[in-house]
Amino acid sequence: MKITVVGAGAVGATCADNIARKELASELVLLDIKEGFAEGKAQDMMQTAALLGFDTRISGSTNDYSKTANSDVVVITSGLPRKPGMTREELIGTNAGIVKGVCENLLKHSPNAIIIVISNPMDTMTYLALQSTGLPKHRIIGMGGTLDSARFKYQLSTTLNCSPADLNALVVGGHGDTTMIPLIKHATWNSIPVTKFLNAEQQEKIIADTMVGGATLTKLLGTSAWYAPGAAGAALVESIVRDEKKLFTCCVSLNGEYGQNDICLGVPVVIGKNGWEQIVEMDLSADEQAAFNKSADAVRSMNDVLKTL
Ligand code: LAC
Repeated sequence: MKITVVGAGAVGATCADNIARKELASELVLLDIKEGFAEGKAQDMMQTAALLGFDTRISGSTNDYSKTANSDVVVITSGLPRKPGMTREELIGTNAGIVKGVCENLLKHSPNAIIIVISNPMDTMTYLALQSTGLPKHRIIGMGGTLDSARFKYQLSTTLNCSPADLNALVVGGHGDTTMIPLIKHATWNSIPVTKFLNAEQQEKIIADTMVGGATLTKLLGTSAWYAPGAAGAALVESIVRDEKKLFTCCVSLNGEYGQNDICLGVPVVIGKNGWEQIVEMDLSADEQAAFNKSADAVRSMNDVLKTL
């Protein structure tokens, strides 16, 4: 198994670190445009192998895509991160060009790879990857909902004072501060609805805090977060390479599912060796479906910006 992570910044490096620790690949390539940067991060990570006991060979490359040849899975983290006060949407102009170029270069050397998109604005970058590569839709997966659902579980677990691992909770829709939809009515604590334990005010606060989860960290850190985004990317890689068929919210191409077409948006999907293998349709309430449609409208108008670039 060979995996490539493009972008050796904080998110890419954390994702690679998780992939190595979990021994998801025999070979892991980290690629970046900044001279020597990916090589340095790769060497630093390799020097943890003797301490952590993993058996993945990590190498770095300064923009030489031939080193990524025959990757089974690639994770794209390239592009500018958010600065405090910035929305993910503001990154579209710069990051669209970067993500398109990265996809082209990757596919020249790894025509069969499954692509995981992390770059922001993630919904539009996933749509762009699908449109520009023409790959079968199952091979393009946007990571956003996986991260947002983990953040939702974090918020629920701190209020409920329970283990995040005991929670089932999904965030669907876009990966934006105003477009994501934490589905609190469907969330359970080991099959018991969480709403049984939370009053209306607590529920509203959990939803609101989840939606600005990324922005809160951007404000605290001065740049966007990396531990949870990197771990979310690695969790998807794991479900692919081990063919786990785990259910995650991911941004995928919709063709009538959830009433939407010609868009990539976050919905529950099964992730296995073929990429996303199935969209799982939930019974959304009228309010939830309305929120989903509104989220789709916002993402669609962001996608329209691509035509003007
Ligand atoms: C975040 C970025 C990765 O939500 O979108 O932290």
